Amino acid sequence: MRVVLGVSGGIAAYKAAALLRLFSESGHDVTVVPTAAALEFVGAPTWAALSGKPVASDVWTAVDRVPHVRIGQEAELVVVAPATADLLAKAACGLADDLLTATLLTARCPVVFAPAMHTEMWLHPATQANVATLRSRGAHVIDPASGRLTGADTGPGRLPEPADIAAEALAVAAAAQRAATAAEAPGAAAENATGMPLAGLRVVVTAGGTREPLDPVRFLGNRSSGKQGVALAEVAASRGADVTLVACNLDASVLPRAAMRMVTAGSALELADAVSREASSADVVVMCAAVADFRPKHYAAAKIKKTHRGVDDDAAPVVELVRNPDILAGLVADRGTEASPVIVGFAAETGDASGSVLELSRAKLARKGCDLLVANEVGSDLTFGADTNTVHLLFRDGRPDRTVGPTTKRRVAEAVWDAVLALTGARPTRKD
Ligand code: CTP
Repeated sequence: MRVVLGVSGGIAAYKAAALLRLFSESGHDVTVVPTAAALEFVGAPTWAALSGKPVASDVWTAVDRVPHVRIGQEAELVVVAPATADLLAKAACGLADDLLTATLLTARCPVVFAPAMHTEMWLHPATQANVATLRSRGAHVIDPASGRLTGADTGPGRLPEPADIAAEALAVAAAAQRAATAAEAPGAAAENATGMPLAGLRVVVTAGGTREPLDPVRFLGNRSSGKQGVALAEVAASRGADVTLVACNLDASVLPRAAMRMVTAGSALELADAVSREASSADVVVMCAAVADFRPKHYAAAKIKKTHRGVDDDAAPVVELVRNPDILAGLVADRGTEASPVIVGFAAETGDASGSVLELSRAKLARKGCDLLVANEVGSDLTFGADTNTVHLLFRDGRPDRTVGPTTKRRVAEAVWDAVLALTGARPTRKD
């Protein structure tokens, strides 16, 4: 997607560099348009190096290519972060005295503003009226976060975290795309025979691995990269589903290339919260994330020191663990006797003295009660972080097992959705 990242002149301009990376590393083509004031905070070489494109803030550079009109016309998503009080005022008034404001007037795609300023400026009636004007014209204005501002003061006005801005902006773009598709083809939801077999289905996919905090610098984690979960989300989106990706600690290089709604979760408890929120309206939930079964009983607010009990004591600390909830089993229990949602679990097995990978997976399917269990053999050199995978698809309703692979994680994802589609069959969706 062609993304224009507008940066206006506030101290939070430096955070826009992280936002730029999030967009470009997830495959989007980013053009940065900073204001002259933004360049006082972060210089043009930074934006040019990170985006791989020349940057300008005025309308007099490369005039032969008419950038003040072209950049906005060609954009598929415009995100202004940070958006200062001044920039919001100019946009609300329709001023066009530099490249960014001209771009905002020519853009016909979704426009997202992420304001950042001091609390007094944010709460001023002039700024609030400008925000209301922009929203009434269809722009998406993200409410600023609360917290520490430039000086010692705190309050609403902080720029939200770049990952949250990226997720919200991509969700806005995805919603606009869906609305455009529905307007062009009102029957899209029933498009099953024409290559969008998941159209009309709301799908939640979890991906990555949870991290259980021990102290401010350490966590208990696992080796899941999230690639398989992201492939599942991308394939579902490409087949027309309305996808929410619940991303657990994903590296920027793994983030999806397709536009979709994304929410983030760090620990197993955060993931449990996110899943219970998202699953209530879902037709299909795929629990691909690797969830820690245990978390440290106590979180140390300060870093645990090597000499944790005294200078002469070189004994290692003992970390007591407590059990995390089993999110997948909880989903199955909450569903009760209802047909929806279809629930897909994953099984990471190494095999051991008590059974082979397949035997342990069949026992897990019986224990968890999900509709489909995707079992994969894992090990330090198998599956984790790799681009390929071999899985066994095990069905609760007695259909014969299927082995898929070794093949790409994308192909595995396609096979999983084929299997889910067979299971959804004539089931009603949440919309019916
Ligand atoms: N899972 C979950 N909540 C947990 C642990 C796992 O929802 N606390 C889900 C995973 O997302 C996956 C499935 O359960 O879909 C199986 O995860 P796995 O780690 O293979 O199995 P465990 O349930 O943790 O059992 P064990 O560690 O004994 O293999």
